[in-house]
Amino acid sequence: MKKLSPSMLSADFGILNEQLKQIETAGAQYLHIDVMDGVFVPNISFGAPVYKTIRKSTDMVFDVHLMITDPIRYIDDFVKAGADIVNFHVEATDDPMSVIEKIKSYGVKTGITIKPKTPVSAIEPYLGLVDLVLVMTVEPGFGGQKLMPDCLKKVTELKELRDKNGYKYEIEADGGIGAGNVREVLEAGTDVIVAGSAVFGAEDIHKAAKDMLDIIREYD
Ligand code: DX5
Ligand code: ZN
Repeated sequence: MKKLSPSMLSADFGILNEQLKQIETAGAQYLHIDVMDGVFVPNISFGAPVYKTIRKSTDMVFDVHLMITDPIRYIDDFVKAGADIVNFHVEATDDPMSVIEKIKSYGVKTGITIKPKTPVSAIEPYLGLVDLVLVMTVEPGFGGQKLMPDCLKKVTELKELRDKNGYKYEIEADGGIGAGNVREVLEAGTDVIVAGSAVFGAEDIHKAAKDMLDIIREYD
C-alpha cells in the first residue's frame, strides 16, 4: 500500500495535537519527524523529547528522519522516544553497517537516506538489510523548497534493483512534493510520499492530506 507521511517540521507546534488529529483522521499512515542538529544540515529543529510527548496521542507510524552527524550516538534515545522507523543519512557516518545493526537490535525498522548528490551505488551494499530507502528530492535542512526532478531517477533505479534482487524496502521521497507534482513522484516508483508545507501549510490541513491520499491511492 502506498502511503503519506506528512512532515511535522511544517506544523504549528502551539496546536500540534489538533493538527496531528487532522492528518490522522484524513488517513495519513506515517508521521515524518525531521530531526536536525545544525551540523549535518544548516538548521536546528527538535529532538527526541519533543516527539516523545505526542507518542501517546497518535497511532501513526513514527517515521523519524535523522539529519544529524554520527547518528549511532543517539539511536537509543530516538527509539525510546517512540520511533517506529529510524532513517539515517549514509553521508553522516563512516560506518553505516554499525548504524543498521544498532537500529535493528531494537526491533524497529531501518531506513537509509541519500542526499540529492549521493548516488544509489553509495548504499547498494546495504539494500538487502534495510526496510526503507529515503530519497531526498531537495537538499536536506528546510521545508518549502522546490523538488529536484533528477532525484526521481534514483527512485526508479531503486525500484528496479528491488525487483531484480527481491529486496523488500519501501521507497520514500522527501522534499518539494505537493498536489501539483505528486503524480510524477508516484510514477517514478515511490511508495511513501513525504509532504510538509503542502499539508501543514494548507488552510485546511485535513482536506490537503485527504486530497493527497486520494491521488496516492490511485497508484496502489
Ligand atoms: C527537509 C526535510 C523534509 C521537509 C519537507 O530537510 O527532510 O522532510 O520537512 O518539507 P516540504 O514538503 O515542505 O518540502
Ligand atoms: Zn525529512
